[in-house]
Amino acid sequence: RMYKRQMMCRRDIDVHNVPFLAIYEFLIPPEEEKLKQKQLVALLEKLVSKEWPTAKLFLYGSCANSFGVSKSDIDVCLAIEEADVDKSKVIMKLADILQSDNLQNVQALTRARVPIVKLMDPVTGISCDICINNLLAVVNTKLLRDYAHIDPRLRQLAFIIKHWAKSRGVNETYHGTLSSYAYVLMCIHYLQMRRPAILPCLQEMETTYSVTVDDVNCAYFDQVETLGDFGHHNRETIAQLVWGFFYYWAYGHDYANAVISVRTGSIISKREKDWTRRIGNDRHLICIEDPFETSHDLGRVVDKHSIKVLREEFERAAEIMQFDPNPCIKLFEPY
Ligand code: CTP
Ligand code: MG
Repeated sequence: RMYKRQMMCRRDIDVHNVPFLAIYEFLIPPEEEKLKQKQLVALLEKLVSKEWPTAKLFLYGSCANSFGVSKSDIDVCLAIEEADVDKSKVIMKLADILQSDNLQNVQALTRARVPIVKLMDPVTGISCDICINNLLAVVNTKLLRDYAHIDPRLRQLAFIIKHWAKSRGVNETYHGTLSSYAYVLMCIHYLQMRRPAILPCLQEMETTYSVTVDDVNCAYFDQVETLGDFGHHNRETIAQLVWGFFYYWAYGHDYANAVISVRTGSIISKREKDWTRRIGNDRHLICIEDPFETSHDLGRVVDKHSIKVLREEFERAAEIMQFDPNPCIKLFEPY
């Protein structure tokens, strides 16, 4: 009898696939936005090459990892080969160059944890942040993009979770909640852990791509087009996955002991990472291991107040998915 009831629930929830997919489609950036981004990058390349002829520009973050929704800002990394560049000096110089070429709102933020130049291009209307030599971000962007190509449900799930997090105000690291990058890793990990698995663990497979950046070796299997329809043994739908994701973070995750790890495709223990107590400002109240900088906990921004906010939001979302006849409205209600 129990089994029958559960089956009913699973099928009931599938009526929400249509609205969830409609939200996903609505959030996808239109082709012309991508063209405008390319146009802006080409302009930046031209300006940068005058001052630094051998430098390269890389896109990273949501404009390049395929998890970007419509009207996002773009993240650019200026890679300069000289050893020990003084990043603040480069930032100041870059701001000068951009300022004198009609770009608007040019701001040099030299004191930020990651120093950046911010700007707005009046021609395309796109805002952009440029950082210097942050190549690990470029590499983790590629990892996320490669995961997105394996199964379409990852991109769908991540769009919906990011949209939920932005609507509910829990996507603000300066308020102690999680970055978009952290949410995407949570989605990848969730799909790696499904049985049958929807995503493989690329870092545990044969190495086909390997670079060393800032003394970190980044190696994984990147020939994802050869994986075929990897997740086809698992027929879970987007509505079931959204439900399961929230249920996991509301009631299933062991906050006291567990670290989620995309690198291993499994849960590892806080003890093993020595993340059991507060060190400096890292409280490790929700633990998400960075796939390459494995000493980075992406949950380190979360404090004893914001962990409560987060967990209450996960519980609220799980309740809505379970009981609300119209979850797509309630779930994304502004906070
Ligand atoms: N990043 C990182 N480590 C972090 C946070 C971010 O390496 N702790 C890098 C990642 O490469 C990430 C990029 O910075 O893709 C941008 O981060 P974020 O703004 O969180 O993600 P976006 O994908 O750009 O999301 P949004 O659409 O909200 O801009
Ligand atoms: Mg971004």
